[in-house]
Amino acid sequence: MDSNKKIVAEKAVDEIKDGMTVGLGSGSTVYWMLQALGERVKDGLEIVGIPTSQKTEKLAKELGIPLADFSSVDGIDLAIDGADEVDPHLNLLKGGGGSLVREKIVDILAKRLIIIVDETKVVDYLGTFSLPVEVVPFGWETTSKRIAEYGCLPRRREQNGEAFISDNGNYILDCDFESIEKPAELHENLKKLVGVVETGLFINMADVVMVGHAGMVDVLTK
Ligand code: A5P
Repeated sequence: MDSNKKIVAEKAVDEIKDGMTVGLGSGSTVYWMLQALGERVKDGLEIVGIPTSQKTEKLAKELGIPLADFSSVDGIDLAIDGADEVDPHLNLLKGGGGSLVREKIVDILAKRLIIIVDETKVVDYLGTFSLPVEVVPFGWETTSKRIAEYGCLPRRREQNGEAFISDNGNYILDCDFESIEKPAELHENLKKLVGVVETGLFINMADVVMVGHAGMVDVLTK
């Protein structure tokens, strides 16, 4: 429900303070975070944002949120991002919107990463949601076969009848594992394959997960 996404997004924005460099995640929950942040900026909050996707960059600009890139900032104080699944160890499955590489670059650099989700994203094991894996287009068919050997059915993501192209010019393979019992090990194995750019498994990165449900916010920490 969008109201849960909105309240959790607004709660996360309370953590943003003057002078911070803030990683701006991607997705429909982050949409609400950007709306709330835009209001705070209008009221005088002084921050700079680093966007994790072209969509986020466009919306942030429309909302008047000042942006920077890695040439002009020295680290990221706080990143706020969404997720497709969160497990009890706060490991994440991300990339449903196709922005996993930029998200991981920004989220891993942040001194503090807050994940904002509604209750539908909280699971016992990752993997019910297909795992997005970004691959270079060259030889993607063979990369896909290597990935399949780890026990999944990869499907090349399509949009309007054509291959979906990520912000980095790559393909996304959505991999149906059903249940990922050892996410760290799977991530390591997939990363070793030539042609794999990044996986949507974000292991041991989140500091806090805020979960919106029934109009309230639960705060999960490790
Ligand atoms: C974008 O590629 C994703 O990693 C998003 O962060 C994730 O899909 C969560 O998006 P929603 O908030 O739209 O569910």
